[in-house]
Amino acid sequence: MINKLKIVMASDHVGYPMKKALQEYMQVLGHEVDDIGAHDAARAEYPIYGRLAADKLAKGDYDRAVLICGTGFGISLAANSVHGVRCVNCTDPFTAYMSRLHNNANAIAFGARVIAPELVKTLLETWLSTEFEGGRHADRVDMLMDMNRCPEAGAYTASLNS
Ligand code: RB5
Repeated sequence: MINKLKIVMASDHVGYPMKKALQEYMQVLGHEVDDIGAHDAARAEYPIYGRLAADKLAKGDYDRAVLICGTGFGISLAANSVHGVRCVNCTDPFTAYMSRLHNNANAIAFGARVIAPELVKTLLETWLSTEFEGGRHADRVDMLMDMNRCPEAGAYTASLNS
């Protein structure tokens, strides 16, 4: 029995085919999935779609976001520009697992030009099914989310300078 999640997806034109394949895969797994664009393989800007998806995630409309561009990096930067979003650009199973266990990543980005189609399903399944461990890791995640709001690093680095 899986924990059914509400998932928002977004991509640019490069990520579009992989996104549609993963949308179908997640629906077969039993998750509820919305694709907010791009809606075809015509040129589309990854910052815009990454940001749109991240805004919806941060608002609480979704449990997780799955984002795809050529490398995964550009769209992860857009997602991480939103307070409350922790997007991992993932290429390996250990990072897929640990980004949930220790960092409570609520978004994942994949590079359609980087990861093989069968590997990406394994990474995604691991990431979707791994729970956050909490405890001391929750304190660190809280710290990160506070930093997101903080224009200067001083509050966090002061203890290192004394
Ligand atoms: C588009 O050519 C490409 O730059 C984009 O998909 C992505 O890789 C950016 O990070």
